[in-house]
Amino acid sequence: MAILITGISELVTCDETLEGADQSQRLGILRDAAVVVGAEFEDSPTTIRWIGPAVSAPEADWSFDLGGQTLLPGFVDSHSHLVYAGDRSAEFAARMTGEGYDGGGIATTVEATRDASDGELRSLLTARIDEMRSQGTTTVEIKSGYGLEVEEEVRHLRLAHEVTEETTFLGGHVVPPEWRHDRAGYVDLVAGEMMDAAAPYARWVDVFCEPNSPHAFTGEEARAILEAGQDAGLGLRVHGNQLGHGPGVQLAVELGAASVDHCTFLSDADVEALSGSDTVATLLPGVEFSTRSPYPDARALIDAGVTVALATDCNPGTCNSSSMPLMIALAVREMGMTPAEAVRAATVVAAQSLRREDIGVVRVGTRADLAVVSAPSYLHIPYRIGVPIVKTLQV
Ligand code: NIG
Ligand code: FE
Repeated sequence: MAILITGISELVTCDETLEGADQSQRLGILRDAAVVVGAEFEDSPTTIRWIGPAVSAPEADWSFDLGGQTLLPGFVDSHSHLVYAGDRSAEFAARMTGEGYDGGGIATTVEATRDASDGELRSLLTARIDEMRSQGTTTVEIKSGYGLEVEEEVRHLRLAHEVTEETTFLGGHVVPPEWRHDRAGYVDLVAGEMMDAAAPYARWVDVFCEPNSPHAFTGEEARAILEAGQDAGLGLRVHGNQLGHGPGVQLAVELGAASVDHCTFLSDADVEALSGSDTVATLLPGVEFSTRSPYPDARALIDAGVTVALATDCNPGTCNSSSMPLMIALAVREMGMTPAEAVRAATVVAAQSLRREDIGVVRVGTRADLAVVSAPSYLHIPYRIGVPIVKTLQV
């Protein structure tokens, strides 16, 4: 069945190769365009079938008039921690009056999550996914990391796998309190038995590489976990350079990670390593907002040739926001990105950080994962801050 979408004031394709489009901001914009979406067979995914000027749109089974709104690829939120129970709002409030963050609060969430049943975790998770979808997000990556024992990590990944293909094993989130006196033993467990049990439910492995936190992992510990993940057939992602300078970024680049996330504290050598690599720097400005940390200089990174994506990091500790439009606004206001760069970072570049070409772009053959902005231009996303003008398109 084919559906024709009309009444599009601005079609932001994020396709730099689209001829005849406005490519001045690398957004591949078409005005007065139409799009046809449909599934080839009843059980195949709905994809983009046709894009072009509205006046030459083909016939379709149904049509849908957006009445002058903006259409763009659905957001790709490439970093989240949605499988958790419990509440840490008091920790946030304490930070706003001067408390620091060192990852110690993660243990509180681990305790609450271990105690929650599958049913409880599933309903919390689906509510969070619904919240994301209602704000334009159509793909989400979800990490484990609040289980930190073999059966719990597998249980959380299994639940995450029910709602997304993009699941990440984060047994190397922190050293849990019961292993505090045997860090090496915990690293061996994560890299060995836990990795083997988790790998069937995960596409990626991640580690919180942060020598500045007593709870997280050193460069050598992180390397052992990441290399074991690679041997198990998983792609690599890294939490790096969040709380201070350290080895995370260079380790990620050296091992060929798809993404290194946070990048709050970078040296010139880190920037140089990133700029010559295929590793995407995924910035998480909601974390700087919610931990009162300095924002990374996205402008300098982009000017140095680094590929920059944006994600929420939605989690109970450092950023409890599911809003990609807010991340775009923060990136523009606080990190020097243009609105166009921020929109690309939240769609096509975020897809690149997941090594996906079928999402994050509106091109014939890609998935019909679309978001609609109730405004004449994408510029309204950061302009109308805090106003819910972006939604996932349900056709
Ligand atoms: O990405 N930095 C490590 N992990 C999360 C925070 C998790 C938490 O505090 O619960 C992050 O910021
Ligand atoms: Fe995170």
